[in-house]
Amino acid sequence: MNEKVNLTREQIAARDPSETFQDLLDLEKVAVPAALRESTETYLGSEDLSVERYISRDFFDREVEKVWRKTWQVACRESRVRRTGDYFVYDIVNDSIVLTRSESGQLKGFYNSCLHRGRALKRGSGHSDNLRCPYHGWTWKLDGEFDSAPCQWDFPHIKQEDNKLPEVRVATWGGWIFINMDDEAPELEEYMEVLPEHMNQWKHEHRYVSMHVEKVIGANWKVVVEAFIESYHAIATHPQLMAFQAIDNSQYDVWGDHVSRTITAYGVPNPTHAAKFSEQDSMDAMMKLAGMEERPELLPGQTAREKLAEISLPGANEQAGEDFSGRATMSELMDSTLYSLFPNFAPWAGHGTVITYRQRPNGNDVDSTIMDIFLLTRYPAGTEPPDDAPTFSLGIDEPFSSAAEVMGAGLSNVFNQDGVNLPQVQKGLRASKKGAVSLGNYQEVRIRQFHQTLDKYLNA
Ligand code: FES
Ligand SMILES: [Fe+2]
Repeated sequence: MNEKVNLTREQIAARDPSETFQDLLDLEKVAVPAALRESTETYLGSEDLSVERYISRDFFDREVEKVWRKTWQVACRESRVRRTGDYFVYDIVNDSIVLTRSESGQLKGFYNSCLHRGRALKRGSGHSDNLRCPYHGWTWKLDGEFDSAPCQWDFPHIKQEDNKLPEVRVATWGGWIFINMDDEAPELEEYMEVLPEHMNQWKHEHRYVSMHVEKVIGANWKVVVEAFIESYHAIATHPQLMAFQAIDNSQYDVWGDHVSRTITAYGVPNPTHAAKFSEQDSMDAMMKLAGMEERPELLPGQTAREKLAEISLPGANEQAGEDFSGRATMSELMDSTLYSLFPNFAPWAGHGTVITYRQRPNGNDVDSTIMDIFLLTRYPAGTEPPDDAPTFSLGIDEPFSSAAEVMGAGLSNVFNQDGVNLPQVQKGLRASKKGAVSLGNYQEVRIRQFHQTLDKYLNA
């Protein structure tokens, strides 16, 4: 099991009863972005992973020190701290960071802890002219300089210049604010490896949050990350997708330590189920999942993929205030092209409205996770972005199906299938006699890269 061999052409081809994703790109009528033409076909080993990684308190505590305090992670959209005095608190396990915008327009991040007797300075989000601790009223300016305190005569031993709020590193990409508590970590741009070069064409910075659901899920944070970086589970977990998603032919890529990708083509039945579905079935199933009433008839010789691209184009044009005709591939108008950045940020690619995921431990709990699902919609350059949608929060016992009013019935049903599954994964891991999990060499290569990178951080 342990020797490193390259996945052979035959092993890769064995997954393809019909066309690979790359073969589908050959059918595009416009130029295909170079990023989509990459296919890494990487083999990273076949060893089992110990279940301890998902259930042990000690492993979790090491992750706090070595991963959550060392990596770049998304705190919020830039829109949350757009104006001077806006603030947003990002909590990760026991750490808390307050982000704000200073008078000079600079984005700032501070450890959310008062320098007097430690109270958290802010909670949640809002707007305020300064950072004033509610306990005794010590006050800092928005740039972190100490301002004043009641009865300052009692603190002759605290020097104004030593009383600046300690800062945390902040950086932005794609309209997201990232923080990093490690002063020695590489710059965000370097950390993101190929991701910006691939993704900038889909303009995440020119989007607003058109939907945000945040749910507590009863499983370790890595169990929840892993459920969204492979499409393999869809065959058993999401059978309703087989009519229009080429699950078996999904392409899986890994680059460096931090970036990976799955591409699953839409408008194409799953190869092993293809005999059951006509092009019209494929078309109808996707329209149904998207919550569309119409069931347009395909023209003779027209594929579902072609028709779905035609239907998606006007909406994408209107949202972005651009004309994508003659330059957007069918893939960029409909496929799920899902990147991830270690440890927990997963933006999708494409021209229309795209999904983005994030998964964080739920406080200090080994066995639960806060999962965010954002929909990001383009707005035309030169216009004011619409307001972000409010967060729709679901507790550990509230199913994704209760979010149908904001997600739509089709999407909430898919997430509900995952939401029901994941606590059972955690339960089974704790009950495991085998004591290990096994991974597919190709379809689960992203999970393997994720754990290899995790080990690099834990052993650093
Ligand atoms: S703890 Fe903040 S002012 Fe006293
Ligand atoms: Fe799923």
